[in-house]
Amino acid sequence: MGVTGGIAAYKAAALLRLLQKVGANVRVILTEGAEAFISPLTFEALSQEKVFTQADFLKPQGGFIPHTELARFAEAVVVAPATASFLASLTSGDAQSILVATIMATKAPVLLCPAMNVNMWEHPAVKENIAKLRSWSYEVLAPCGGELACGDVGPGRLPEPELIADFLARLLAPADYQGKKVLITAGPTREPIDAVRFISNRSSGKMGLALAKAFWLRGAEVMLVHGPLSVKIPSYLSQRPVETAQEMYQVVNELFPGVDILVMAAAVADYTPVKTFSGKLKKKEKELVFTLKKTPDILAEVSAKKRPGQVVVGFAAEEGEKLPEEARRKLKAKHLDLIVANDITRCETGFETETNEVFLFFANGKELKLPLAPKEKIAWQILDALKEQLGEILSAKA
Ligand code: PMT
Repeated sequence: MGVTGGIAAYKAAALLRLLQKVGANVRVILTEGAEAFISPLTFEALSQEKVFTQADFLKPQGGFIPHTELARFAEAVVVAPATASFLASLTSGDAQSILVATIMATKAPVLLCPAMNVNMWEHPAVKENIAKLRSWSYEVLAPCGGELACGDVGPGRLPEPELIADFLARLLAPADYQGKKVLITAGPTREPIDAVRFISNRSSGKMGLALAKAFWLRGAEVMLVHGPLSVKIPSYLSQRPVETAQEMYQVVNELFPGVDILVMAAAVADYTPVKTFSGKLKKKEKELVFTLKKTPDILAEVSAKKRPGQVVVGFAAEEGEKLPEEARRKLKAKHLDLIVANDITRCETGFETETNEVFLFFANGKELKLPLAPKEKIAWQILDALKEQLGEILSAKA
């Protein structure tokens, strides 16, 4: 991890913590400019490792040549924040600083996270350098908009550590879904009773979001169609928010012809009120009876229109022993390539949980259990299994 001399240098400490939390072994390089903002001791205390500075570059100790050793050590490099002058040095190949020299000496993928004043970011010199660096296959994560430390408003802020960590993870992930367009549904739908009340369910959207993220990490172009969620959607995912089953039906139907894979992880309401009352329903009657009507079965309808080369995956929320029988029935009835079944009666699987245990039933007869694990890991394993079992369909030309 390289840190250069900008006001956002303090955020690099949080990034270091986050990378360590997910199991990365991090070595930090501070440029002279960064040292003016934050002390090497901060990173040394956090990483429990030596932090490298310009002094180490100029006076290597005991035969350890920092830029070449660090260049070999790294499986990935991130520079956060990356200043305009650092970007200029890298573009011109001026290897006088330890960080530029290390990056020039490494074969590892590099993620650059520029942060600077908005006018500097929009300056033609910076634009040209960024374009050149991108053309050399450096990954550049553009800064976020908002109020900057200098008081100006516009793009220039260093993105949050979580976002940087996701882009870094993508550099290390297999790009085995590159070129694939994936449509994922997540979360509940809301069926309105009156202006303030609705029928819904406990889906948080975590499972669908974990799948969307896994596909994105592995190179796919992802569109997330979601009901009201209790989790934050990262800015790199394209999204279409919806409320009702009918709205989800319309959006999925509109987008389905253009995608390679559809995964319906959303908990779509099966019934919706026949009538929506205007305003707030008054408390008058002792009993209140609603008539509900069936919503369209989105999955069954789009699956029937599937063209060669398209893969359709459904989810099944089932209870206990009936799970395999019900999942196999839905797999057939809805003409799916795969159904992912989870038991919603257990406290650590299904709705709202951080973890899941799922059973995969493929149309080709293959059945697989993915034992209890965080939803992110389950999503990753679903992608592995999908590639293994349905790789042929996915690589077939439509
Ligand atoms: O969001 P989380 O809190 O992380 O919870 C995850 C989850 C439990 C919601 C998820 O893992 C899950 O099981 N999603 C599917 C829930 C569901 O609606 O299951 P179902 O068995 O009722 O429906 C079967 C399939 O048909 C599903 O893919 C569903 O999206 C689809 N369906 C259902 C009804 C309908 N009108 N149209 C549909 O397309």
